[in-house]
Parts: sequence; structure tokens; C-alpha cells
Amino acid sequence: MEIQEMVDRVKVIFNPMDKMVEVERGTILLDAIREAGINIRTICGGDGDCGTCKVILNKGEVSHMSTKYKEWLSPQEISEGYYLACQIRILSDGEFTIPVESRIASPKILLSSEMIIDKIDPESKKYLVSLMPAQGGERRQIRLENFSGPSPKVSDDIYDKLVQMKEPITATLSRGNTPPEIIHVESGDRTGSNYGLAIDVGTTTIVVLLIDLTNGKILGKASALNSQITYGETLVTRIAFSRKAENGLQKLKQAAVQTINDLVNSLTSSAGIKNEEITSVSAGGNTVMNHLWMQTTRFPGAQSSKKLRNWGSTQTRRLMFIVSPT
Ligand code: FES
Repeated sequence: MEIQEMVDRVKVIFNPMDKMVEVERGTILLDAIREAGINIRTICGGDGDCGTCKVILNKGEVSHMSTKYKEWLSPQEISEGYYLACQIRILSDGEFTIPVESRIASPKILLSSEMIIDKIDPESKKYLVSLMPAQGGERRQIRLENFSGPSPKVSDDIYDKLVQMKEPITATLSRGNTPPEIIHVESGDRTGSNYGLAIDVGTTTIVVLLIDLTNGKILGKASALNSQITYGETLVTRIAFSRKAENGLQKLKQAAVQTINDLVNSLTSSAGIKNEEITSVSAGGNTVMNHLWMQTTRFPGAQSSKKLRNWGSTQTRRLMFIVSPT
């Protein structure tokens, strides 16, 4: 069985990126390029109808899946080893060049360095905890220093952890729902370490700001091409991909998550903070981006869009799970 598996996998190298992936023999080359994390132009989303995914075969064997290449490649290009990445399967170990015209250059994104957040009222805040003695076999009462509002919800797991800790203890309170909920507890006074992310999930680019939630200071900003671009450059081709490709929706979500995680990791490492210290995430995008995040292929009209406008603030905990940098 092991020998069979080894035989069925092939190594593919992409130049000039010098990236290598191992894929099953017979894989469509465009899928291998995506797996390698290379951004290549695919206006039609991989249907062989745009001619933008040109590659040059340097070494190895491939097979055509259709004759669509004849519409898009000149006789000279064919003689020089050009193929359409979405229309060939890989039959052996191989090496390809992604020509300049097929690559997607990372755009320079202008981020205002003047941006200042005057007032900040984050969804999650940190408070010092005082534990009151238990009365008549009831749970011990939890008081949060300087917090006035409805009694927070506390899950059994958090409560069990809390009662075993020694003060000072810091609790992170999420105010996204009513009543607010204690979502995390930690030893010591950690009230000064509370960070948040603001994420703009754009069709072409993703921008992330890292913010100190205690004072509104922007600690860093970063942007990158949305890796979904390799599955289609336009919203329409991405919707089509999400519907027709196997696990298409999952792949699109993962591509955006990967881009966000890379940006978050670079921001936190430059700022010298731990990813776990991020307690709040607000993200926004157009309707299609939001639906892809939520992993639904239903793209209804305005009624649902209205609901999604609030998604950034109401789904923070879910988002935290999605972008949890592991
Ligand atoms: S021809 Fe359009 S992506 Fe390959």
C-alpha cells in the first residue's frame, strides 16, 4: 500500500518562485499551483475560457484535458512549451515557469499613517476579579473592578478555573451579547494588555490593523493580496468556484484565513505581543466576501446583506476561532 502511495505522488517545482509541492499524479496543474500558494491569474476561474493562466513546461510530462488551449496559445507559444495551467494534468515529476504575464503582482496599499482613534469602547475589556465567599452552597459571586452593568455570564469551565486561581486575577469580558460574558481568565493584573484587530476583507486585498484596546493606539498595519485570487479574479468567478468545485467553499475560506493569519502573525511578532492577547476582532467585507466567510453558497439579495452588515461585531467569537493563529 505504501509503495502504491509513493508511486501515485509526484513533485512539481515552480519557477522563478522556487516553490515545490507534492501532489497526486493526475492533479490539475492549476490546483497544484494553488496548493503551492502561488498567485496566478485565472479570470475565468479555471474553465479554460480566458487564457490567463499560461505556464511554461520546463521538465516532465503532462496531458491535455481539452483542446481549449488552441484558442488561447499561439503556434509559437505552443512550440515554446506554453500550456494553460487549468487545462492540463500532471503525469510525472515536473518543473514549470510561471511567466510574468500570468503572475499577479502584489499591489501597494496606501494606509494612512495619520489615522488616530480618538475614543475607544471595545467589545471586549479586561477587569480585575474579586471572588466573594460562597453563600449557602451557591456559586461564589464574581465582582469585576470598575464594571457596572448586568451580571456577566460565566461558563462552568471558566468558573471552575477561576475558583482555583489566586488573586490578582484578570477576566476578559465580552460585551457582544446580553448579558456580557467572561470569555477568558488569567493570573495577575493583565488589564494593560488588551489588543484587537480590524480587518478589511477585500476581494483583491486584505488589510489588518493591530490596535491597543486600552488606548486606541494603532500598533501596526499590514496588507496582502487575498489568496482567494487564485480561484478567480472576480466575485462572479469565485461564486462559480464555490458552487462547482469540490470543497470549493472551504478552499475559498481557507485561502482568506491563511492570508489573515500570515498578516496577524507578522503584526504581533513585530509588536512583540502574543496572539492570545488579541481579544476582539472586527472584520468587514462586501456581501460575497461575507458569505464566503460564513461558508454559505446562498447569495441572496438585500435582506440578508443587511443582516451581514452587523456581522463584524456580532460574530467576534466565531471570528476569533477562524483566525486563531496556530
Ligand atoms: S483559461 Fe482561464 S483560468 Fe485557465
